[in-house]
Amino acid sequence: MSIKFGIIGHGFMGHEHETMLTQMDGIEVTGICDIQPKQLEDVKEGIIRYNSAEEMLANPDIQVVIIAANNNQHLDLVTKAANAKKDIICEKPVAMSVAELDEMMKAVNENGVKFTVHQQRRFDPDFRTIKEIYDQKALGDIFTIKNQLYGFNGNMHDWHVYISEGGGMLFDWGVHLLDQLLWMIDAKVTSVFATMKNVINEEVDDFFNIQLVFENGITAEVELGTYYLKDQPKWFERHWFMGGNEGSAYVDGFDPEGRIVRTTGLLTNVKGSRTMTAAGPTRSFGNPREGLIVTEELPEVHTCHENYFEQFIKAYHGEEEFFVKVPEVRRVLRLMEAVRESARTKKSVDFE
Ligand SMILES: NC(=O)c1ccc[n+]([C@@H]2O[C@H](COP(=O)([O-])OP(=O)(O)OC[C@H]3O[C@@H](n4cnc5c(N)ncnc54)[C@H](O)[C@@H]3O)[C@@H](O)[C@H]2O)c1
Repeated sequence: MSIKFGIIGHGFMGHEHETMLTQMDGIEVTGICDIQPKQLEDVKEGIIRYNSAEEMLANPDIQVVIIAANNNQHLDLVTKAANAKKDIICEKPVAMSVAELDEMMKAVNENGVKFTVHQQRRFDPDFRTIKEIYDQKALGDIFTIKNQLYGFNGNMHDWHVYISEGGGMLFDWGVHLLDQLLWMIDAKVTSVFATMKNVINEEVDDFFNIQLVFENGITAEVELGTYYLKDQPKWFERHWFMGGNEGSAYVDGFDPEGRIVRTTGLLTNVKGSRTMTAAGPTRSFGNPREGLIVTEELPEVHTCHENYFEQFIKAYHGEEEFFVKVPEVRRVLRLMEAVRESARTKKSVDFE
């Protein structure tokens, strides 16, 4: 039997959910609601339209609601859905603060409903490629991971330009970038140092640089800018770099391209040959001699966002655990709060 879904909020992400979920076996979209009637005009035939969440939650057929409204609506809508005994998938960022998440979890636990969060970017192919290299230990001991995302035009729109509605890039995309790192690296984060800026937006951050020190010796840097310009193909997408003592890897673009890079001879304490560069002679920098650098293909991964809901269906039927767990999203929210504190105080913050 298909799981009957209701979608709350039919904006950008509500439409994405409608398109994906109506094509999936095991799920039926029963209802969609939005407080703006205009947003309901193009709801697919056969799906019931509602003008409020309360109306839709009163439909006893709906088993699961997916909350895809503005970030500042999540607490209220999760609480209402839990009180109506609906199981819940909440969009990211799950809440505006740890305190809000804790409050919504009270309603979830009191009503004994199922709850998970749509952190589907754990299935992004660029991330899964770097994770595969990490899991295979293909680069030996990792010492650095860089994770960058750049855009143009400032690219902030609608409610995203207001702090009060949950706008700002840390809570919009930072939540994905940090979630990916914390999910991949099985170690405590000991400290956080961050810079946040609103370069061209009045209220909200459109640039951040976050440095995380993990207990296992890895330093990770996460940088995002929505107004960060360069005339290079595929620049306005993801860039990963991972360095270990047995090689490096770079992975660029959402449809990733890159290589694993190794050296054929480790130059430890041998007489360095000089390379002439525009900045003068150098022994450590400049171009390596012919044949020293060799490359390998990236591992192939085959993941996509549908995988999130395929897994959800299994977990819903009790065959597996939910993929995204509350303590994980709570840890990411705590980390985002530490990022804000570090940016405000301009000091490193001890974390775990
Ligand atoms: N997981 C992802 O990749 C991803 C991508 C984009 C957005 N999101 C998340 O989805 C959510 C919505 O973002 P969006 O970009 O679609 O915004 P949006 O502005 O395009 O759509 C939000 C919709 O929710 C409606 N809405 C607001 N309050 C409501 C309420 N109380 N009841 C019913 N409807 C209500 C609005 O009228 C609007 O149509 C946000 O939490 C955002 O972070 C997730």
